[in-house]
Amino acid sequence: MDRVSTGVPGLDAMLGGGLIPARPYVVSGPTGAGKTILAMQFLAAGLAKGEAGLMVTLDEPPNEVKANVVAFGWNLDRLKILDATPDIKAHKRQRSVIDVGTTMDVRDMDQVGEIRQSSQIRAMEVSIHGVQKMLKQEFFQRQERTREKYKRIVVDSITALKMFSMGGEDSRIMIQSFMRFLSELEATTLLVSERLNPKILETEFFLCRGEIRFHKSLDGNVIRRAVSIEKFRGSRFDDRVRPMSITNSGVSVDAQGVVAMTGGRLAALGQEYLEQRMGEEVTTVIESVLKMVEDAHRMRMAVTDIEHAISRAMLQIQRRNYQKAMKAALHAQSVIRERLEKARQGPPPPPPPAAPPPPGVRR
Ligand SMILES: Nc1ncnc2c1ncn2[C@@H]1O[C@H](COP(=O)(O)OP(=O)(O)OP(=O)(O)O)[C@@H](O)[C@H]1O
Ligand SMILES: [Mg+2]
Repeated sequence: MDRVSTGVPGLDAMLGGGLIPARPYVVSGPTGAGKTILAMQFLAAGLAKGEAGLMVTLDEPPNEVKANVVAFGWNLDRLKILDATPDIKAHKRQRSVIDVGTTMDVRDMDQVGEIRQSSQIRAMEVSIHGVQKMLKQEFFQRQERTREKYKRIVVDSITALKMFSMGGEDSRIMIQSFMRFLSELEATTLLVSERLNPKILETEFFLCRGEIRFHKSLDGNVIRRAVSIEKFRGSRFDDRVRPMSITNSGVSVDAQGVVAMTGGRLAALGQEYLEQRMGEEVTTVIESVLKMVEDAHRMRMAVTDIEHAISRAMLQIQRRNYQKAMKAALHAQSVIRERLEKARQGPPPPPPPAAPPPPGVRR
């Protein structure tokens, strides 16, 4: 099977040749780990082979994204960057103004009103649904214009996307539908995700077909960088943590190298791995349900209740309540399995009573 190069030979080697095409993957790691650089390197590798690349940026405005990788000498002229950056300045200003609330005078109050309003509008613009619409439009417009599809897509970052959209259960369902939408585009997609809390498994980690995780630790006054493949559906892969570095040619991975598991935060990885194993079984069930949810969507069956059940299971995993998570996941699995079987055997079902509400509408 053809593989898609990440643009980093050492990483391709860890992946058994590269990524399996037309699927979404997560690139995770702490800030400054090299996620954005890898994402750009992946796009640049595609452009060099004539594969159209599309980047959605929420973390930095497009000019900064490009400026940050000038040193690597990649030709990004043909890269399309969609700017989905929210007005972060307004958010920050708003917060600091609130912090000093007691010392504000009337003149400042006027300003606060203005800033609030503008930041609210901006925050609404950066809904998951909005970004999805923007992506869809660009994707199909290009296809019409040039009869060529975007082969590689990057979303930097999905963490920001969630932060600037709704929280809670709805945002998990939105991410489910966003990932489904990405799969349908049949482009190889990298979703950049910061693991804000290593103990929490965010929705995108369940739904992606693989995860490339960057690690960063301080050893004395030297920054140690490492990378690992956390999962890769449908392929063998190197499950060791390997040393990586950022040089003048971008991210570089030593696929044979050994990371000294001494001192620093890398040593703490063991605990994290253990936690993940515990959640793994539930994850497998959730993934099987999500696959059936995809089938159900294709068959135009109403499965909102199943999606909610899965969201609850994910929430339980995030709370590290694996028993409850498993119960919810197994229940959802049996319900949807039965529903699908009925639909496949019996005569075509009548259309669902009402179309599921459009994404973005609270249920
Ligand atoms: N030319 C270069 N040579 C070596 N290191 C570099 C070079 N350019 C950037 N870096 C390093 O790359 C890191 C930034 O990488 P990147 O922007 O990809 O991080 P990130 O994971 O996307 O972080 P964030 O989550 O904050 O966006 C910094 O640590 C910086 O020191
Ligand atoms: Mg970044």
